[in-house]
Amino acid sequence: MTDDALVLDDVTLTYGSATAVFGLSLTVGAGESVGILGRNGAGKTTSLRGIIGSAVRRRGSVRYFGEEIGGMRADQIARKGISWVPDDRRIYTTLTVRENLLLASRERSGPARQAVDEAVAAVPLVEKLLPRKGIQLSGGEQQAVAIARAVVARPRLLLLDEPAEGLAPIIVNSLRDSIIELQRSGMTVLIAEQNLNFVLAATQRVCVLDSGRQVLTCSSEEFGNSPELQNEHLAISLENHGRRR
Ligand SMILES: Nc1ncnc2c1ncn2[C@@H]1O[C@H](COP(=O)(O)OP(=O)(O)OP(=O)(O)O)[C@@H](O)[C@H]1O
Ligand SMILES: [Mg+2]
Repeated sequence: MTDDALVLDDVTLTYGSATAVFGLSLTVGAGESVGILGRNGAGKTTSLRGIIGSAVRRRGSVRYFGEEIGGMRADQIARKGISWVPDDRRIYTTLTVRENLLLASRERSGPARQAVDEAVAAVPLVEKLLPRKGIQLSGGEQQAVAIARAVVARPRLLLLDEPAEGLAPIIVNSLRDSIIELQRSGMTVLIAEQNLNFVLAATQRVCVLDSGRQVLTCSSEEFGNSPELQNEHLAISLENHGRRR
């Protein structure tokens, strides 16, 4: 067995003839939380797609708890306990939040209800939303439901794509606390995000991408304490910090 949840080794990701991520090598320890930072178009979403094998062609090795998943299909990978929260959230608008969550469980009804209760406890913002229809949710509420839905499946690895994007600070802080608690409870977390404060609070290490290339990997503490590193690698993102793109 290995203590690493995820090991990307020289992973190159392409759309048709265009390469979006060049030779990414990144290890995420079991129970660790890691952030992928970078400007718009840097390759954050593509890197997450490369892990779940969705919508992008990949070369290189992706190992998940020691098992090579680089050649597997997205549906095979999903069954292995990786949950992905896409940046567009994809809540079923005609179903209630409770129904959205129940659908995400792989269990029968009794255990499914328990899994939903646990997810709601982990993402408290969702509790008062349970009877509402998906279409009646604000952006922040949708994001909270999307995270809870991913948690219902009790993943070992949670992949989050820009969970803080466009949300009010009070929602961002609550979701941040949920993610921190999930990680403390043993879940491994990988977050693609441009909100630097969010990433610094919710992760132990960061990897910075620039035009598909990995330009820095270090502890979140080191990155947070170094305006020089932030300026060098994220200057444009910082200018946009807090603003919706
Ligand atoms: N489906 C696709 N087909 C072709 N090219 C794509 C596709 N999706 C993304 N790209 C390209 O791949 C590169 C990386 O895009 P990606 O979406 O991974 O960036 P990102 O860091 O997530 O950006 P953002 O912060 O805007 O979400 C960009 O040049 C983008 O135009
Ligand atoms: Mg993206």
